Amino acid sequence: MSFVEYSECIQEGDVVIIFLGHESMFPVKVQAGAQTQTRYGAIRHSVDLIGRRYGSKVTCSKGGWVYVLHPTPELWTVSLPHRTQILYATDIAMITMMLELKPGSVVCESGTGSGSLSHSMLRCIAPTGHLYTVEFHQQRADKAAEEFREHKVGHLVTVLNQDVCKDGFGVSAVADAVFLDIPSPWEAVVHARTAIKKQGGRATGRVNSGVPGSYGGSCRIHGNRNAQQLTVMSGHVSPGGHKEGHRALGHGAFWGGATWGSVSQPCLQQAHHPVNDRTAGYAEAIIASSLTIHSHFLLTGVYLLLVVMISHALDTVWMKLLRLFLIFGKSGS
Ligand SMILES: C[S@@+](CC[C@H](N)C(=O)[O-])C[C@H]1O[C@@H](n2cnc3c(N)ncnc32)[C@H](O)[C@@H]1O
Repeated sequence: MSFVEYSECIQEGDVVIIFLGHESMFPVKVQAGAQTQTRYGAIRHSVDLIGRRYGSKVTCSKGGWVYVLHPTPELWTVSLPHRTQILYATDIAMITMMLELKPGSVVCESGTGSGSLSHSMLRCIAPTGHLYTVEFHQQRADKAAEEFREHKVGHLVTVLNQDVCKDGFGVSAVADAVFLDIPSPWEAVVHARTAIKKQGGRATGRVNSGVPGSYGGSCRIHGNRNAQQLTVMSGHVSPGGHKEGHRALGHGAFWGGATWGSVSQPCLQQAHHPVNDRTAGYAEAIIASSLTIHSHFLLTGVYLLLVVMISHALDTVWMKLLRLFLIFGKSGS
């Protein structure tokens, strides 16, 4: 088992997701001889889990049943032990798309927090990419490193226990992308600039609602001319601002985006990983359709303006010709 590769059967040491229902699932580390209690009774690891196929229905000791699922970043996000606020699938889809993550990408993030975003990033960049993740809280950094090893993705990630605003990401000129999920991302923009490859890359950060302008401003100060702010709202995406009265999708409503160097614009309709959460696709669909609607409105407006101007001009010409015709007609008679 690995979080970035599928295996057919459960083995000792695997982390499996025990699925009791959509609102009730939890991860379990499989150990020979161990038992896990559920409200439907006990699951005996040696008998009920080891050697069984992922996706099997397992009957517990009280006669109720559960499914044992292969772990994925999405299932981890909804079942992980929370050490901090975390990012959910809707926002994660948006971030991985904006950062254009793909197999082989090198990406820096801070803070690691509970590792919810990190697991999705790792699946995007596997098998040859690398994630540098910075967390200044010692226990969170240690726990995340332990989980990455347990989830067989440890070789794809370096966890650094330091203050990203002071000490940066510990690398320079290697990253294709940077993501900041810390209270003041603008303080780390200078380090994002250092971490990013000389030929360019993308940086994105979550910006709290009190200070939406600071991130874009800081990106501009550090030599970025394309810094933009993107707000994801239900049914509405507005580059440049927050619209009152709209409910935010997820809890990370503001995103500051920046590109340095000669990196192509993001392809907004780019296909994302086939995730088993419909909200992920929803965020992408909203961006794509909202941009189309905006450009249609703009084109229709320009077209109507042109029609009005031309008909006004024509009107004036016809009136002048008619007047000339009457004058000449009168003088002729
Ligand atoms: C909201 S959590 C990140 C959640 C993470 N994105 C996830 O999905 O699980 C923010 C984390 O940033 C860490 N943090 C805040 N400021 C930091 C800094 N200057 N350097 C490194 N880590 C920082 C906090 O300790 C916290 O764990």
